[in-house]
Parts: sequence; C-alpha cells; structure tokens
Amino acid sequence: MRKESSIHGQWSSKLVFILAATGSAVGLGNIWRFPYIAGEHGGGAFVLVYLLCILLIGLPIMMAEILIGRRGRQSPINTMTSLAREEGLSRGWGLMGWMGVVAGFLILSYYSVIAGWALSYVFRAGTGSFVGLDVQGVQAMFEGLVADPERLLAWHTVFMCMTLIVVARGVRSGLEQAVKFLMPLLLLMLVLLVGYAMAEGHFMEGLRFMFTPDFSKLSGNSVLVAMGQAFFTLSLGMGAIMIYGSYLSSRASIARTSATVVGADTLVAILAGLAIFPIVFAAGLEPSQGPGLIFISLPLAFAQMPGGVLFGTVFFVLLVVAAWTSSISLMEPAVTYLVENRGMTRVSAATLVAVLSWLLGIGTVLSFNHWSGYTLFDMTFFGAVDYLTSNILLPLGGLLIALFVGWRMTERSVASELDVQRPVLFRTWYYLLRFVAPIGILLVFLRAINVI
Ligand code: PHE
Repeated sequence: MRKESSIHGQWSSKLVFILAATGSAVGLGNIWRFPYIAGEHGGGAFVLVYLLCILLIGLPIMMAEILIGRRGRQSPINTMTSLAREEGLSRGWGLMGWMGVVAGFLILSYYSVIAGWALSYVFRAGTGSFVGLDVQGVQAMFEGLVADPERLLAWHTVFMCMTLIVVARGVRSGLEQAVKFLMPLLLLMLVLLVGYAMAEGHFMEGLRFMFTPDFSKLSGNSVLVAMGQAFFTLSLGMGAIMIYGSYLSSRASIARTSATVVGADTLVAILAGLAIFPIVFAAGLEPSQGPGLIFISLPLAFAQMPGGVLFGTVFFVLLVVAAWTSSISLMEPAVTYLVENRGMTRVSAATLVAVLSWLLGIGTVLSFNHWSGYTLFDMTFFGAVDYLTSNILLPLGGLLIALFVGWRMTERSVASELDVQRPVLFRTWYYLLRFVAPIGILLVFLRAINVI
C-alpha cells in the first residue's frame, strides 16, 4: 500500500513545498559560502563548473531525492530501507540514510557558528557600528569578532537554540510564513545591493572575475569544490530534500517544483556574487581572503551608502532567517529518525541533536582563534569538517541516490512516481540521472585525487 501522507504531516499545498525546499536551499551557502569559495578558486572557470554541476548533476539528483522521499514517506533511513525492501534490494541501502544523518549533523555544527556571525552583525548594523568605517575598520571589526571565542560561542548558542525551538515544535508552522514573506524580501535586498555595486563598485571587474573562465586556475581540487558547492547549496545528498519530499502531496509535479527551487537558489547565489565582487575590487580587497569575505565587503557598502544603518540591519536579519530555514532542514533527518525508531518525542530528539551539534561546533569556534594553528592537510577543524561534508559526503550521497533511482528501482516505479507528461523530458532526465550524474561525480572524485 502506497502511503498517501507521512506520519509527520503533509504540506498544505505544493507552493508550501516549493517555499520550504527553497528555504532549505537558500542560505549561507548562497550568500556566504559561494562568493568566498568562488573567490578562493579564481572566479570564472569555477563558477562555470559550478553552474554545469547544478544543471547536469544537481537538478536530476534533486528530482530523484524528492521522488525517493515521496515514495517512502518516512525518515531518510527508514525510507531507504523500506524502498529497498519493496524493490527486493539489500538493506544496506539504509546506510545511505545514516550517512545523511551524520552529514547533516556535522554541517549543522559549523553552520550554526557562521550564522552566529550573521546574528552578531545584525546588532552591529543596527547600532550604527559600521557608520564611517573604512576598509581597515571593517576588517578590524571582523577580526575582532572571530578572535573572541566567548563571543562566538555565545552567538553559536543563540542560533542553535533558535533552530532547536522550531524543530522541536514541528517544522511546518513557522516555516511557511517565514519563507513566503522574507525570501522575496531577501531577493529584493540583494537586487538593491547589486544596484549599489553597479553604481559605486567596480562592476565590470566583478563581472569579468565571475564570468570570464580561466581554466589554468582550475585544479582538480577546485573542480571537486565546485561540485561540492552545487550539492551544498541545493541541500542535496543528505536527506533534507528527501524529508521535505516526504511531506509532498502525490499530485504535485516533481520536475516543475525542482526546477523552481534550483532556479531560485542559483539566482540568489549569482546576485550575491554580483553584489559582493564589485565592492571587493573597488575597496582593493582580495577576493580570495576566505570565510570573512561578505562580513568585510558588505559592511563597507553599508558604511557608505545612504540609509546604510537600515539596509544593513534588514539585510543581516534576512541572512539570519535564510540560515535559519536551512539549519532546521539540517536537523530534520536526525530528528525524524530518533522519533520514528527510538520512540523519542520531537522535543527530546531535537534537544539531543542540538546539544551534540552545539558541542561539536565548539571546534569550529576555536578554529578561528586558539586552534587556528592546528591543521590537517592544511585545513583547520572547521575547514576539515566543511571539506569532508560538502566535497565528500554530500556528493557520495548524491551518487548513491542516482544509482538507486537510476539503476536499482524499476523503471516502472520511477516513471509512475515521477509522472512526467512529456516522454522526451522523462528520457532526458533518466539519461542524466543514470549516466551523466554518476559518471560526472566519479570523474570529479578521481580528478581530485589526481588519478586522471
Ligand atoms: N543549502 C543550504 C545553504 O545553502 C545548506 C544546507 C546543506 C542545508 C545541506 C541542508 C542540507 O545554506
């Protein structure tokens, strides 16, 4: 018997699913992570590879992940075991769900720390701390923040509690409203910032940096990082989108909803880049300076623009909300598992996950100060957790999703769940999922470890 809905409830409409999935996808990944890693990896060529990964690997895998979620209608772990049983496959597929739970938990640990930076910037912007600052001033402000573990820990704690409160109460109530009104507002703010960058920044230089590919700058590792960013920004490969798919009604079109989410997410990332790089170049800053990039370039813009106090405050509030709607989806896979299999209540499950993730986040807090000298393969604790999750666990999860839906489920079950009206579209998607995505991921992995 096909389940018509999940025990955790169902979205009140297809629009709500789109909003929730967009809320999960759009977050620090688009506005903080995308510009800084594109800057570190030389711009143009990196951005091109990222866009190709979004289109040829990310979109098809998103459809497959939603499809699995809607068919299974449980936590990712139980969904994978029960679908595998249904198709007569090994229970080993449940391990994929486990990998997702672990990845989500690891990402959440540092995501909360960075979202804490954004929280602290809400108050800096609101109290007019940026006003009149020059480049050195904004740089000193950022360095002062990350050098202070106690302050970082305090903000990390606040953000983790915010996430906990929403997840403990059940995701759907607050999320719908937050995403419906605040996401469009975030988009508007970004458009305004791009306008400012056009007027006051070195816009052409920014454009050239983002869109003129220079492949000599692109190492095998850069290609892996670009692919990792595609997974990270779309929330793919760890069960978040699978869970949201499990609340989706059986009538909604998976293809159309996925395309909308991917389009919105990509738009936000590109706008963020277009806003930030022109400001970076005009101020003589380095695009490759790392995780502080937006926390230095944007305050500089707010310091100088008319109405900067208001715009700055609104912007950082919206950034926090965007991070919030993503962090709750990072926590969901672990929480639904604990509720379904361990008989825990939502409140205690969410508390357990939040506390453990908070503890691990202390490692990230210290990565920017006391532990900054301790590195593994040239990466701090934060760098290593980020690398392991985005560049290895998420693409590996995506690969398994592609193999499961593309090769292990029968074409009949896949086609009936997807219900694409146009056969050409179905065939194209199926081809991308079976061949292009898995082979692409494998080639990128092999290239990164210099095998090819
Ligand atoms: N997509 C989110 C962002 O861009 C991060 C995220 C990754 C959320 C994986 C859920 C799962 O910020």
